[in-house]
Amino acid sequence: MQLFYAILFFISFLLLSLMCLLFKRGNLKDKRLPPGSMGWPYIGETLKLYTQNPNTFFSTRQKGYGDIFKTHILGCPCVMISSPEAAKIVLVSQANLFKPTYPPSKEMMIGPEAIFFHQGDYHSRLKKLVQASFLPSAIRGSVSEIEKIVLRLVSSWENTTINTLNEMKKFAFDVAIISAFGGRSDLETEGIKHLYNCLEKGYNSMPLDLPGTPFRKAKKARKLLNERIKKMIKRRRESQKKGGGLLGVLLESKDHKFNNLSDSQVADNIIGVIFAAHDTTASVLTWILKYLHDNKEVLEAVTREQEKIRWAVKEENRGLRWDDTRRMPLTNRVIQETLRAASVLSFTFREAVQDVELQGYLIPKGWKVLPLFRSIHHCADFFPQPEKFDPSRFEVPPRPNTFLPFGNGVHSCPGSELAKLEILILLHHLTTMYRWEVVGNEDGIQYGPFPVPKKGLPLKITARSKKTISAKIN
Ligand code: HEM
Ligand SMILES: *[C@@H]1O[C@H](CO)[C@@H](O)[C@H](O)[C@H]1NC(C)=O
Ligand SMILES: *[C@@H]1O[C@H](CO)[C@@H](O)[C@H](O)[C@H]1NC(C)=O
Repeated sequence: MQLFYAILFFISFLLLSLMCLLFKRGNLKDKRLPPGSMGWPYIGETLKLYTQNPNTFFSTRQKGYGDIFKTHILGCPCVMISSPEAAKIVLVSQANLFKPTYPPSKEMMIGPEAIFFHQGDYHSRLKKLVQASFLPSAIRGSVSEIEKIVLRLVSSWENTTINTLNEMKKFAFDVAIISAFGGRSDLETEGIKHLYNCLEKGYNSMPLDLPGTPFRKAKKARKLLNERIKKMIKRRRESQKKGGGLLGVLLESKDHKFNNLSDSQVADNIIGVIFAAHDTTASVLTWILKYLHDNKEVLEAVTREQEKIRWAVKEENRGLRWDDTRRMPLTNRVIQETLRAASVLSFTFREAVQDVELQGYLIPKGWKVLPLFRSIHHCADFFPQPEKFDPSRFEVPPRPNTFLPFGNGVHSCPGSELAKLEILILLHHLTTMYRWEVVGNEDGIQYGPFPVPKKGLPLKITARSKKTISAKIN
């Protein structure tokens, strides 16, 4: 009997120590993981992320857990990052350990060979080509074309109520087409617009592949878009001139073994770049008009800066030129402050390609990592009174890695100069010739997927009264 108890005791002791050991090991590993609540796997905190104001979602967790915390989004464990130093490690200094990652349905919609989804040699080859097409030296020639688009569009707004987001999408789309194809001469570009609208609706909807769903329609549109673009590629490959724009650059490209890019590589990238170029820019433009509307003294200051340029342009009886757009410092600060305050790309996604240690925490292989641009842009340590719209804060340059509207590192935005250029040209004409009032009193924000004012910001546009203009001159 005593022996029985002795054996029982021994076994219990063994079991207990084993459990302790296991518990301890788990504990040790847990300790090194970032703090945070994982929520329920698969539902996790996704619902909260999409139903709460993202500012609230991030700031409550940041207050509780600090600048690095873990959570679950769409069934995946992830680590959210809102310190400039950690964001720099993920996006720049250790970018090779964090690959871009997108839901498969979205990757399929854009095209799997598009630049966004890749790392390494293929990515850097494409990045050089895309960057070359959007460098200041490459886009300075498009000022007068962009100005033509602006003049046609804004004159159609006079005395009407516009859905600002929709109009800005038209504008940013037309500019993207010019830079993708090197002009609007290609007859096909007209039909492409409709296909893009379908694609966009599906991209931002649930990936439900059933008859009649936006997702199914988008898949169809993507196929047609591909056929159109491949026809253009074929025609350009057959003729001696490869033509202008990004398409021309991609078709001319040869790697070190003199190989071309394949037709699908070219098509996926053209489709992807147009996609990345128009939604983002349109959302930023919508916010600028809202902020200028709500901050009349800023609007008047921008108008004065733009009027000086207008008078010089009129005096010389010419159109707007690249050099003019380099003389708009205040307007530029308004753009920067809008990029900060609105942070239309609130965050981006990466995935750890191996177990990585980040500032003392373990990030296991396969976990998602989200640098939270919006949280960094709204941190009072870097931007005092972050909720205040105050362009003058950009009179001194922001601290390194605290201002990331176009991302950072190898995957940073190659289109930033084009985006800023088209915004400047539109503001030049809009502020000198028109005024706008918000229709209705909806003050909310819609997410589709970028945050913009409710209902796309309905605005009533009127000519700027001549009285105020002459009063300013005198
Ligand atoms: C104001 C408007 C824009 C904003 C706020 C914006 C923002 C961004 C950001 C934050 C990234 C980095 C994403 C990441 O690191 O995961 C990015 C990437 C990219 N953007 Fe933009 N963008 C804008 C306009 C444009 C335009 C006009 C173009 C067209 C030329 C463009 C083309 C791209 C491309 C191709 C990438 C992927 C680069 C890569 O993966 O290497 N964007 N953009
Ligand atoms: C807009 O309305 C004003 C005032 O009613 C009028 O003077 C102007 O001609 C109108 N402009 C256009 C383009 O219809
Ligand atoms: C490369 O381009 C040439 C002519 O521009 C074409 O004949 C050839 O089929 C292309 N190769 C590939 C792999 O697309």
